[in-house]
Amino acid sequence: MSAPMGKNRKNRGRNEEPTVVKFQDVNIFIVERKIQRVRFEHLKKLARRKGFRVADSIELDEDITHIVAELDHREDVLEAISSKLKASKDGQAIAERRLESAEVVCMDWFTACMEEQKPVEVKDEHRLKAKPKVVAICPSSEQIRNSGYQDARFACQRRTPLKHHNKLLTDALESLEKHAEFLGGDQNQSRALAFRKASAALKALPKPVRSMRDVQNLYDLRGGKHCKKVIQELIEDGFSTEIDNIREDKWFQTMEVFTGVFGCGAATSRKWYDKDLRTLKDVLDAPDVSLTKEQRKGVEFYDDLNTPVNRIEAEVIRDLVVEETERILPGTTVVITGGFIRGKESGHDVDLLMSHPEDGKEESLLAKLLKNLHKRELLEYTDIQNSSFTKEVLSRPAQARRSHLDHYERCFSIFRLPKHLIEQKKHTKKQNGSSDAETSAVKDIDDDSPAPKQMKLEQTNVDNRGVGTSESRSWVARRVDLIIAPASQYAYALMGWTGSRMFNRSIRDYANKEMNMTLTSHGLYDKVNFKSLPADTEEDIFNHLKLEYREPVDRNC
Ligand code: CTP
Ligand code: MN
Ligand code: MN
Repeated sequence: MSAPMGKNRKNRGRNEEPTVVKFQDVNIFIVERKIQRVRFEHLKKLARRKGFRVADSIELDEDITHIVAELDHREDVLEAISSKLKASKDGQAIAERRLESAEVVCMDWFTACMEEQKPVEVKDEHRLKAKPKVVAICPSSEQIRNSGYQDARFACQRRTPLKHHNKLLTDALESLEKHAEFLGGDQNQSRALAFRKASAALKALPKPVRSMRDVQNLYDLRGGKHCKKVIQELIEDGFSTEIDNIREDKWFQTMEVFTGVFGCGAATSRKWYDKDLRTLKDVLDAPDVSLTKEQRKGVEFYDDLNTPVNRIEAEVIRDLVVEETERILPGTTVVITGGFIRGKESGHDVDLLMSHPEDGKEESLLAKLLKNLHKRELLEYTDIQNSSFTKEVLSRPAQARRSHLDHYERCFSIFRLPKHLIEQKKHTKKQNGSSDAETSAVKDIDDDSPAPKQMKLEQTNVDNRGVGTSESRSWVARRVDLIIAPASQYAYALMGWTGSRMFNRSIRDYANKEMNMTLTSHGLYDKVNFKSLPADTEEDIFNHLKLEYREPVDRNC
């Protein structure tokens, strides 16, 4: 990502300052086509401020040295200029002459000049080329599979690692996504998804985006004017006023606090805000707000539950569960899935998927497990949902299942995680000589994780009521999802609970559109042959779908 080009934020919107021409030999003409009016004016001003001459008229300025365009080929530039000059008798001839006597370059050259604050040499990669004579053939899905195309249509076809090259851009797009989700309603949900898809596309790119040319062929950015505008601002200025405004907005910040309450979604948060409630204390004091049991816990343990869970804590929780399942049903597998299996060092919860090699054996496991954990006073809250799986679930089209929820027996819980066990685990890890990187996970908060909300909690004043802090307790509260899957569906459950959410959406969409199959966390149903396809491993699922296998660490879209 290019650094902000030395532009002071405060300068924005100020009247134009007097400019001094520093580079007499250079006269730039910017072709307006495909550039938004506001941005076009901004670019001209920017160049002038940096001491460049910028021609206003292609007709009258005869000494134009550089023609800059956001277009693909020289022919497009010629066409754009000629059509601008169509009133003039020999417009076409003038356009051709200008193209002959000037360098015709892409926006990369311009951006480089602005960055370096002087004209940079025109390299071959800057020059727009003539249209190729042969039309390029679109890669087949076979080619996409074989070469791991990072601009493939479906996110599941691309490798999306956790650490990528475009964090400034994807964070901005994800703020827009969140904002749209907070606003709610069908239209905003679609907008949110579009922002998410754009962000996912950028995460898969093998290098930082430096110009709009780097993103113009991405399937998920086609027609995404809003996304493109923000990306452009960030590339050129290093910041986007729109994004800054969203993040600083009181409503947005309050919505972030409210949706951070366990059991409280955007709709409830909006209701609270519309009742003039601004802090969690306001919510607790409001006579006309009745909280669900879940939300009461969410407020009470707000601080703990908004502190990212780290990997060591996740392992301690897994160990506690294994201790009990070994007693109840030896041979049960307990796997940490979700963000951790995708390589994240921290997350908002721990997702534990449990299964037994013998189908059916797992049936009474959850009830017994919870009973034992309760006895040991390790549970603060449980919300148990029985299995609602039936064979019909497998073939039901995705649209009919309104949410992405599956039908496994499960428990959304809050664990009381004893602090001494966390210390013990750190200690044994150190003794076993685990790498620094692993133990440092205790302190480090992963780049990709939500920032802890301590700051916001202060605004919420919950501390004043004596709740929300863990200092006086011997344990910390942590969100844990426990899921039970029979062996025959385990691979599908593993894939579903590994995520990411966007990966699931994409691979399900791919299955439907490209393979005429329905994929869920329970199975894969072939809609042509009316049969379910069994899978022992995640690789089997990828094979059924004729997709190149992606490791969980590459599913971070
Ligand atoms: N999931 C699901 N059904 C739910 C909740 C989650 O199938 N009721 C899936 C999601 O699609 C996701 C995975 O389980 O792929 C993990 O969900 P979640 O814990 O919400 O997200 P993480 O990716 O683990 O993020 P974090 O690290 O913040 O927990
Ligand atoms: Mn999770
Ligand atoms: Mn979860």
